[in-house]
Amino acid sequence: MKKVLVPIDLSSVSEEALQFAVDCACSDTGYLVLLHVVDYMDIASLGLVGLANREQELREEMIKEAQQHLDELTKKYARKGLKFKTRIVFDRPWRGIINIAIEEQVDAIIMGSHGRGRVAESLLGSVAGRVVHEAPVPVTIIRPKAMRDRLIKHWHHIGKE
Ligand SMILES: Nc1ncnc2c1ncn2[C@@H]1O[C@H](COP(=O)(O)OP(=O)(O)OP(=O)(O)O)[C@@H](O)[C@H]1O
Ligand SMILES: [Mg+2]
Repeated sequence: MKKVLVPIDLSSVSEEALQFAVDCACSDTGYLVLLHVVDYMDIASLGLVGLANREQELREEMIKEAQQHLDELTKKYARKGLKFKTRIVFDRPWRGIINIAIEEQVDAIIMGSHGRGRVAESLLGSVAGRVVHEAPVPVTIIRPKAMRDRLIKHWHHIGKE
């Protein structure tokens, strides 16, 4: 593993993807780019709920919250020989992830199967799905641990039928 992009939507599933990336990257000289994309559709919808006049303030709050979260993660997962960089951009999440993957010239993307949304467990979240379809570099999708365990049991059982 060389330079890897890890998109973080501030959910525990994206943190599980980060743990996997750290474990992979540590066996080599790893460089992880932690990216949070602030969805500009969330900002655009502020006008609809009468908050357009607070747009700048809310933008700054979102950046601050994301930066704090990314900084905490870089501290928590600090390892010898592992380098971190954090990025925050405004975009649609899937497009921000692909653009930054190209701009940072990463070798791979490691991300969660789900995030903060409420997509059925057996499916892929919409951001994960779009990135898998469109990314120019290999993408590794990490499911939540509880689901991985259930799948192993399931396939173990099927294999004996
Ligand atoms: N805004 C974001 N910024 C950075 N990474 C993101 C963002 N949104 C999602 N991701 C990445 O995509 C992974 C899957 O999240 P995704 O949004 O596809 O699932 P979901 O939230 O469960 O479903 P949906 O958003 O479709 O309701 C996350 O674990 C994270 O790695
Ligand atoms: Mg989501």
